[in-house]
Amino acid sequence: MRRLLVAGNWKMNASSEMTGTLLSGVLDNLPDHCDVAVFPPFPYISQAVDLVGGAGVAVGAQNVAKDDEGAFTGEVSAAMLADVGCTMALVGHSERRALYAESDYDVLVKVRQLVKHGITAVVCVGETLEQRKAIREESVVSEQLSLLIGELSNADWEKMIIAYEPVWAIGTGETATPEQAQGMHAFIRSELKKVSDTVAAKTRILYGGSVKAASAAELFSQPDIDGGLVGGASLDAAEFTAICRA
Ligand code: 13P
Repeated sequence: MRRLLVAGNWKMNASSEMTGTLLSGVLDNLPDHCDVAVFPPFPYISQAVDLVGGAGVAVGAQNVAKDDEGAFTGEVSAAMLADVGCTMALVGHSERRALYAESDYDVLVKVRQLVKHGITAVVCVGETLEQRKAIREESVVSEQLSLLIGELSNADWEKMIIAYEPVWAIGTGETATPEQAQGMHAFIRSELKKVSDTVAAKTRILYGGSVKAASAAELFSQPDIDGGLVGGASLDAAEFTAICRA
């Protein structure tokens, strides 16, 4: 059985104080029926790892370098993330694809770096509004997944989570309906069968895009939705833990 995961992507929002307050709020209300993860900005990762102290909240990064080490000013390697206790990292978030021209090939290289260092990659996929209006959402997501499906081994897939985040639902207050989300999650799972039936059955597929406590329960009860990747609502400990309990 796939265990639910509720993950908070803080994006570029944090301070030492906020990291402390948010995490103590989350730690005080930890659910036992689902896994919880937070993705703070790089400077707060060590603080977050220290605060959770292995207490059932995974700490992840929002990005990772494509290279191991060396003259790559401003980059943070998978080895460094592993060294400070990161166990997960986001890859290919739509903001990185749109604002920093991250390609499907970049995503593959970054996933390989993470897997090499034992870090779980949470790969984000999703279509824009124009693409959905043109009924191209499945072909877009299929294209975003195709290199991963073609290149990664079954063992690599054990370190993979997919997050379906329709771009039109991110930060807009407009959530995909449970039917729309379930439809795409089922499609993604059918694509994963190209790797193997086991990978399709075992890989967790999260939904992201304006998830709130009020919408979480119905989304998470869909058969192919294994939890959520939460942006704005993860910055409020009460709202985030309510989503975890949904
Ligand atoms: P919101 O929950 O703010 O829509 O953000 C979703 C997201 O991008 C999570 O990675």
